[in-house]
Amino acid sequence: MSFPGTGKIWMNGSLVEWADATIHVASHVIHYGSGVFEGARAYNTPRGTATFRLDAHLHRLFDSAKIYRMEPTYSYADLHAAVRETIRANEMKACYIRPIVYRGYHTLGVNPFPCPVDTAILLWEWGAYLGQDALTNGVDVRVSSWSRAAPNTFPTLAKTSANYANSSLIKMEAISEGYSEGIALDTFGYLSEGSGQNLFVVRNDVIYTPPVTASILPGITRDSVIAIARDHGFKVREEMLPRETLYIADEAFFAGTAVEITPIRTVDKISIGNGRRGPITEAIQNGFFDIINGRVEDKHGWLEYVYDGEPRQTVGASTPAGTSART
Ligand SMILES: Cc1ncc(COP(=O)(O)O)c(C=O)c1O
Repeated sequence: MSFPGTGKIWMNGSLVEWADATIHVASHVIHYGSGVFEGARAYNTPRGTATFRLDAHLHRLFDSAKIYRMEPTYSYADLHAAVRETIRANEMKACYIRPIVYRGYHTLGVNPFPCPVDTAILLWEWGAYLGQDALTNGVDVRVSSWSRAAPNTFPTLAKTSANYANSSLIKMEAISEGYSEGIALDTFGYLSEGSGQNLFVVRNDVIYTPPVTASILPGITRDSVIAIARDHGFKVREEMLPRETLYIADEAFFAGTAVEITPIRTVDKISIGNGRRGPITEAIQNGFFDIINGRVEDKHGWLEYVYDGEPRQTVGASTPAGTSART
């Protein structure tokens, strides 16, 4: 998917044309990956366009900035309003939302402190990340030869541009060998996550997912899956999982803003269950799609309508991001 190259981008408080939203090649972020960002979505529901868990995404953005000692120039409320303003200015019905806070142009030493902290919000239309077919029929994946970052190296609770160098290695290896995705292990050999999505495994009717200590990004979708699963009466456990858990799973699926909920049908050419989307995966998918499409009551308050009035006030951050449903 390439960009259409039109529309408005919010940059440091102004809406600018897509083609004019440029930065200098000497900007710190280009050389040292000194950016933190988010990926959220807005959906076209029968009541109108609604963002999905924008509050949790923005709180994670501020957590990421704090870990990297960046002081965003704009407050949570400013960015919340700016996302809504940008969606309205582009007259978007459904879109992917990419806020980014990054170190800009001043000097090019490793020390980022002298560089300004700039902010932008981009939107684009983005359908099913791994293809529409994948949502029903699942994807073929491999366990990556690359590991996720070791603890106390690149902090995985931060969604930072630098971490996506590792994600790109995982993704490129998988694609080069004919797979849709790679699943990375942590440096202790336990299951971690995909290049841009969290991992769930089902065995004997229990849903398992690696904990935040397994070098994962604590996904907002992961948190939503846990809540939906519990709403449906399923048992969910966050546990360190050995690699072979995948091969003997009844079902497995990815969860993330881009992939939404995508079944995994094979890992390393071994069929998961009967090699098709399993019933628990389908139940969780239906629960998720019913909420984002406005077909059921939004009892967790995850949708915020963009075109009707002022944003609802949100109270308190979940720290680390995405842990609010974990009780
Ligand atoms: C590495 C990684 N893990 C997990 C996720 C899923 O997070 P979320 O559900 O908040 O999109 C993402 C997506 O941003 C990701 O890049």
